[in-house]
Amino acid sequence: MSETKTHKVTLIPGDGIGPEVTQAVLRILEATGVKFEWERFSAGAEAFETQGEYIPAALYESIERNKVALKGPVTTPIGGGFKSINVTLRKRFDLYANFRPIRNLPGLETHWPGVDIIVVRENTEGEYVGLEHEVIPGVVESLKVITDKGSTRIARFAFEYARKHGRKKIHSIHKANIMKMSDGLFLRCARKVSEEFPEVQYGEHIIDNTCMQLVMNPFQYDMLLLENLYGDIVSDLCAGLVGGLGLVPGANLGADCAIFEAVHGSAPDIAGKDVANPTALLQSGILMLRHLDEMTAADRAEVALEKVYAERKTLTRDVGGTAGTTQFAEAVLAAMG
Ligand code: NAI
Repeated sequence: MSETKTHKVTLIPGDGIGPEVTQAVLRILEATGVKFEWERFSAGAEAFETQGEYIPAALYESIERNKVALKGPVTTPIGGGFKSINVTLRKRFDLYANFRPIRNLPGLETHWPGVDIIVVRENTEGEYVGLEHEVIPGVVESLKVITDKGSTRIARFAFEYARKHGRKKIHSIHKANIMKMSDGLFLRCARKVSEEFPEVQYGEHIIDNTCMQLVMNPFQYDMLLLENLYGDIVSDLCAGLVGGLGLVPGANLGADCAIFEAVHGSAPDIAGKDVANPTALLQSGILMLRHLDEMTAADRAEVALEKVYAERKTLTRDVGGTAGTTQFAEAVLAAMG
């Protein structure tokens, strides 16, 4: 940990519940004692209205310079409209690894206590390449792109993480019985990489069965390695295992840059009411502190967060409490002392 260093971080509060949870999280991150200089930008519809660009050029430049960003959710129009800001940023900075640790928090009653699964999602390929076109009226083609390079590097990311952090098992999740070529390639790459890591057990499960297995017995899994779309869907399922989307953090990681953001979206159904749970973004912020090598600060925020959950007195509505976003943040601040 650096006593004096100021970290310049690009900040995208996002829209919907984004600004509320971001505000709560900034207070906690700053209270850890780490010095930040936030470069704040809007993105998506708001940026277009005010600056005429969905992603302002200055935002790209800021991430390029700082190499690290904290991001709230950004709404993506459904069935038309502008391209997802999230997908665009991940592509632009080649943030190929989406890392999502899923674990229970103390004091939270869930169907399965003690879940501890790491979801590793490929973040740049698959159906998310955005290659769709109408062949003739009434017929649309959507391309799913899987490459040797993309599959090998995400498999290597997962196995290297397992080796470094003592994780025991990786399951590749696929549908290669149907998508024989694309998912077949993904599996072949994962198998090949797995040979370099004999200490990590390697298995493969078909995606539909995996969803059932996760609900029935999540403890059989340690790390899941998935293509982009499967990873997106299974992450939300896993969030449900530990108490919901209000809790689960994420990191979009590439060779040069990293963007930290929660798994959840902009939650328009609860936006602007001070009821959203900031835990998911806070846990993403804690991942960011570790990425910045601010381990003491990360531990401090994590211990305080877990204390608030263990006490069960100031929890937000989504996890059975009555506290608002601000009140919850204040409880975490108080727990930090
Ligand atoms: P969502 O994740 O926003 O919400 C799903 C459900 O979970 C809602 O009932 C919501 O109230 C609840 N929820 C989510 N976060 C919560 C929190 N922090 N505290 C308490 N409850 C929470 O998913 P939805 O509704 O499918 O998507 C809304 C918008 O968000 C869409 O435009 C979508 O494209 C976008 N989105 C953006 C993401 C990003 O910026 N990384 C990721 C996922 C979706």
